[in-house]
Amino acid sequence: MRRAKLSRRTIGLIVALAVACTAAACSRSDEPPVVTGAGTAGDAGPSAEVIGTLPDGTTVERFTLRNATGMEVTVATLGAAIHSIRTPDRSGALGDVVLGFETLDQWVANPPYFGVIVGRYANRIAGGRFTLDGTTYTLATNDGPNHLHGGTRGFDKVVWQAEPLPTAGGQAVRFSYVSPDGEEGYPGTLTVNVTYTLTDDNELRLDYEAATDAPTVVNLSNHAYFNLAGDGTVLDHELQIDADRYTPVDATLIPTGELAPVEGTPFDFRSPTPIGARIDADHEQIAIGGGYDHNFVLNGTAGDLRTVVRVYEPTSGRTLEVDTTEPGLQFYSGNFGSPIEGRGGRTYPRHAGFCLETQHFPDSPNQPSFPSTVLRPGETFTSTTVFRFGVRP
Ligand code: GLA
Repeated sequence: MRRAKLSRRTIGLIVALAVACTAAACSRSDEPPVVTGAGTAGDAGPSAEVIGTLPDGTTVERFTLRNATGMEVTVATLGAAIHSIRTPDRSGALGDVVLGFETLDQWVANPPYFGVIVGRYANRIAGGRFTLDGTTYTLATNDGPNHLHGGTRGFDKVVWQAEPLPTAGGQAVRFSYVSPDGEEGYPGTLTVNVTYTLTDDNELRLDYEAATDAPTVVNLSNHAYFNLAGDGTVLDHELQIDADRYTPVDATLIPTGELAPVEGTPFDFRSPTPIGARIDADHEQIAIGGGYDHNFVLNGTAGDLRTVVRVYEPTSGRTLEVDTTEPGLQFYSGNFGSPIEGRGGRTYPRHAGFCLETQHFPDSPNQPSFPSTVLRPGETFTSTTVFRFGVRP
């Protein structure tokens, strides 16, 4: 009931925004950042612009969240995606720290999944098949023999409804999507909300929520590619991951089921280590991934919001910390097969960005020893991830 009301209100807001934007009054992308006293940026609410129309007539909106320190984040309804994150470097200069595209057409195609929410099941399901309560479900195989990131039209490809939320804690937008029963082969109508909040502490907080009307599986993540220098490769970024174990994979990147110790391997990031230090190591798992493309078993208790990742980029001085309630983290070192044409005439080389995909473990629906990804009617899936930006001397 509550969800039906929410969706009508959301539609109303979108229409209002679209009307305002066709009047050409809402795009503030050329204006300098609004810098206001602490707490007041959130009161103003995010600004919105229409960035284009899809072939089926659906408009795509983009919202700009700003905070009291001048940080800016843009998020779009297509794929509920992060399009940009502009944070200060150690000299105070704002720069974009995520990879992105220039045109809507590029965002529509988006083969590397820049910035998007991935679902209904982030990461892989072996053979595109799982059994739940005695019924076997068949999904698209869109990554070799496996199902990846929700299929051929996953949550990254749909246009979400958006509702700006003026909150005390910062500027926020809530994206909502109702995934019909049977969509991409998954059982159950799944109602999903993802709320992005930019706080005055330079935190971008993602709160996920989902409910279903029939038993299903859920795994949601964000697929932003970070580059804290804003350019070049990320090989010199110093990375720390609080994980004693990781899940080794077979040749098709499906976990073998083992939780292997990171000790003595290129996967030991328990103390800060440049991403590039061991990325070409002679190690079977590195060879399979073409670099890092692995799930780390995060220390601490899943469900507790705890800091699990720390990154430092020495040239800009920028830092990134990640807190999450999730049990796992896919660390993907952007192992692009060929360079990608990106924003502002840039060409992104191999390892131009890295993903920190907080998640449940890949292929959990087929691996009973992994934390469960089953969601049943009456239950609410919740998950929180915080990306906290800063600088160091
Ligand atoms: C995830 C996967 C990678 C790759 C990217 C998208 O990180 O684990 O193998 O498919 O998404 O390019």
